[in-house]
Amino acid sequence: MHPCQVDVPNPVDAGDIAVLTSHLTKTFESPSGTVTALDDLNIQVRRGEFICIVGPSGCGKTTLLRIMAGLEKQTSGRIYVHRSSNNRPLTAMVFQSDSIFPWMTVERNVGYGLQMQGVPKKQREETVKKLLAMTGLTAFAQSYPHQLSGGMKQRVNVARAFAADPEILLMDEPFGLLDEQNRLILQKELMDIWQESQKTTVFITHSVDEALVLGDRLLVMTAQPGKVKRIIDIDLERPRDIVSLRGDRRFIELYSEVWHLLSEEVRRSRARQE
Ligand SMILES: Nc1ncnc2c1ncn2[C@@H]1O[C@H](COP(=O)(O)OP(=O)(O)OP(=O)(O)O)[C@@H](O)[C@H]1O
Ligand SMILES: [Mg+2]
Repeated sequence: MHPCQVDVPNPVDAGDIAVLTSHLTKTFESPSGTVTALDDLNIQVRRGEFICIVGPSGCGKTTLLRIMAGLEKQTSGRIYVHRSSNNRPLTAMVFQSDSIFPWMTVERNVGYGLQMQGVPKKQREETVKKLLAMTGLTAFAQSYPHQLSGGMKQRVNVARAFAADPEILLMDEPFGLLDEQNRLILQKELMDIWQESQKTTVFITHSVDEALVLGDRLLVMTAQPGKVKRIIDIDLERPRDIVSLRGDRRFIELYSEVWHLLSEEVRRSRARQE
């Protein structure tokens, strides 16, 4: 059993739930004492939805993703991650910093997860080819990471995660280090791939703009210890285009609502540090 898949009463009744947390709490012991990273967190992620998470630095966003990925174990509470088939990995993670293998070509990096799953060569090549095309990397299939720009490396990361075809895609500020042009291009590409695959995605960002362009819903977390401050439905039509959204009345309303909630928490977080 995957470490995440713990004793939620009856997963058969889980309906369209992809991830469910119940009273999820995580504490860390540090030299300065016990740190409560997550405190009684109750959330539901629906199958196929794109949910974004924002919150002040240190509020527990990465910790939550790592628990979903089974890389970290909660201190108390429960988490259920839905599995529809035993042949697919439960999760795949895209990190902020590039985490591709420097000694492998782009093509091999993208196909790595599939190789690990034992997918036959021909099928692997087809998937890799499709994802390289979708992320604009076809011409760089034989390049090594040091020959790529930061934006291209993140494309490899995204392509690799989609290629693995996990139940749930976990993305931790994947575009945080990119310049604005590259970020906008990658957001658009991610949206196109996501719309085709309809894969459940949990996406952490520091950018309210980015959350509103990408997400179906937005979880705003409180300053540490991380709790749910608000979950907001992003009722903007798709496909979305950031340039036209910036003049959209609903976008502006949502932006100011989220910014207000977030800035309260950022202030609380800073006050505690001072
Ligand atoms: N392995 C660890 N040991 C001790 N403390 C930890 C550990 N991992 C995280 N923490 C603490 O837990 C809290 C939440 O950390 P986390 O990395 O989840 O925050 P975050 O919301 O992702 O922040 P950021 O936006 O800066 O990435 C922080 O106070 C952090 O110092
Ligand atoms: Mg983080």
